[in-house]
Amino acid sequence: MAFSSPSTSSQHWNAAVYAANAHFVPALGQPVLDLLQPRSDERILDLGCGDGALTEKLVALGAQVVGIDNSPDMIAAALQRGIDASVMDARALVFENEFDAVFSNAALHWIKDDPDAPIACVFRALRIGGRFVGELGGHACVGAITVALVATLERRGVKDAASRIPWYFPTAEDYEIRLRRAGFVPQSVQLIPRPTPLPTGMRGWLDTFANPFSAALPCEERCGFLDEVTALLKPILCDADGNWTADYTRLRFAAIKP
Ligand code: BEZ
Repeated sequence: MAFSSPSTSSQHWNAAVYAANAHFVPALGQPVLDLLQPRSDERILDLGCGDGALTEKLVALGAQVVGIDNSPDMIAAALQRGIDASVMDARALVFENEFDAVFSNAALHWIKDDPDAPIACVFRALRIGGRFVGELGGHACVGAITVALVATLERRGVKDAASRIPWYFPTAEDYEIRLRRAGFVPQSVQLIPRPTPLPTGMRGWLDTFANPFSAALPCEERCGFLDEVTALLKPILCDADGNWTADYTRLRFAAIKP
């Protein structure tokens, strides 16, 4: 797993809440690790390492791994795992020509304001021949959840609620163009539907990821707001046994610095 929280988003990261409600994010990171094919002699940057749950797997494979994330709370959790991790903005990386690979899982969709900036930084950080391998939310990811959040905020009188959407969910075509424009040679860029079971239900997911929306409301209204969004989504994303599944899509890619 891994992610970052740019300062432009009002998303607030809490390592304990994340571990309770979103441990499935790193747990589902195996396919992108498989695409990376890390080797034990490699130096790898984990961009948006979060609490280091997935970074730890790279370390276990013998790679020399550095993690960065711009949430101090998540970096504190990564350091507790013994990971070499620091707080850094993915749009302003300080590394140059020094990594064999840059890996990123579930982080890049939080950088909505300038998705090209982390790509350019990664290009600079890699040695020639280095790989950029990652996964982020893809086009239409959490579409039903987003519609419910925006509609419920607007019903409560918040104007232009759509402007609060904090995520960038590109199509494969969009991301491939950005990679090429930065100088990369893409090897694969794939949009993958991945309906995702939510271990603590929709309310756990909203408590973890929907603070950019609830922040529009006074504190005393937020609980009712999230309950209303949950009720709206129940007929669509919850089965008869009470199991919730989020409407995720993933954008998985691998590219080389030539
Ligand atoms: C994720 O962690 O993959 C994610 C977070 C928020 C919205 C969609 C996906």
